[in-house]
Amino acid sequence: MSEQVDRRYGPATLPRSRGPLSAAVLDALRRPPHDLPAGLGADLDPADPITDEDLQLTLFLCYELHYRGWHGVDEAWEWQPTLLALRAEAERPFEAALRRLVGAPSVPAAGVAAGLAALVAADDGPPLAATLQRRADLSQFREFVAHRSVYHLREADPHSWALPRLGGPAKAALVEIQTDEYGNGRLDRMHAELFRCTLERLGLDTSYGAHLDAAPAVTLATNNLMSLFGLHRRWRGALLGHLAAFEMTSSLPNRRYGNGLRRLGLDEVATRFYDEHVEADAVHEQIAAHDMCGGLVRAEPALAPDVLFGATAGLAVDRLFAAHLLDSWAAGRSSLRTPTPPAPPPKVPLVALPAVAPPAPPALV
Ligand SMILES: [Fe+2]
Ligand SMILES: [Fe+2]
Repeated sequence: MSEQVDRRYGPATLPRSRGPLSAAVLDALRRPPHDLPAGLGADLDPADPITDEDLQLTLFLCYELHYRGWHGVDEAWEWQPTLLALRAEAERPFEAALRRLVGAPSVPAAGVAAGLAALVAADDGPPLAATLQRRADLSQFREFVAHRSVYHLREADPHSWALPRLGGPAKAALVEIQTDEYGNGRLDRMHAELFRCTLERLGLDTSYGAHLDAAPAVTLATNNLMSLFGLHRRWRGALLGHLAAFEMTSSLPNRRYGNGLRRLGLDEVATRFYDEHVEADAVHEQIAAHDMCGGLVRAEPALAPDVLFGATAGLAVDRLFAAHLLDSWAAGRSSLRTPTPPAPPPKVPLVALPAVAPPAPPALV
């Protein structure tokens, strides 16, 4: 397809296949919309759906049609009935695996906000943030940033799916959080754009979806979890719970990430994304737990278990992600499927730059 797009904002380039199912979906997406073969994906039974490369890429391929789409792929695929049926087949083992991973959290008598606080207090994930702060070398930090780019270049988008599904106090609280995430309407303050500066300072490709091929299943799973919750209205409670857990566990790790980059000699442009989250998320966590999740459950009490399920699932999948990075590094190998290219020498002094310099746009394709 010859149409020109600004690669910073998507659509992404189709990634490479990781097994028979993702290969079949990729082959289909390259052609005009048509019915997929009957039964495709019906016998899916991966041993570990959360780390199954073929399953997680298949889900990601389907979900991305609802975000920026794929470069060169007909937009009518978004609602093609047989592809949606295949997506449902792929979601079944993913949801079952999440249930096995986290069970069914019970809601304490003190309410859902207290339940969220207890979950977060009990969260003892692998020490990824501390490692990045104190010990990680530059190549390991670049790996971490490449993993996270899959989400941060569209930061906040999955949770915005909840907006039209809510009313009243929960909606107002979500809008307050999302307004900050989107920079109060200023491009240079949007968190996704701050993150693009971090990528650029680390000499990494800043294009939307640039690191998809390098991202393993567990990284895709952290994203697919948000899309699963975001694209199904029935999971709106879990989506808000996921966001609340995200905000409630963000402030301290982000301080550590920023300190880690400073230790490695990076400048304030590189650290701004993380520095911004230290204060913003300390505020967001209160809004998310009390006003947003509390407001939702006051309006729809039956959703309280879903709120805690979404929070627990988010924390649990993030623990698997952190363990993957730390285990890979402990074994002396890259945590990515393909290592990031070596960092180029810096073109500017890595100290005290006056303001955010937006990265140059990549070449049009
Ligand atoms: Fe953010
Ligand atoms: Fe936030």
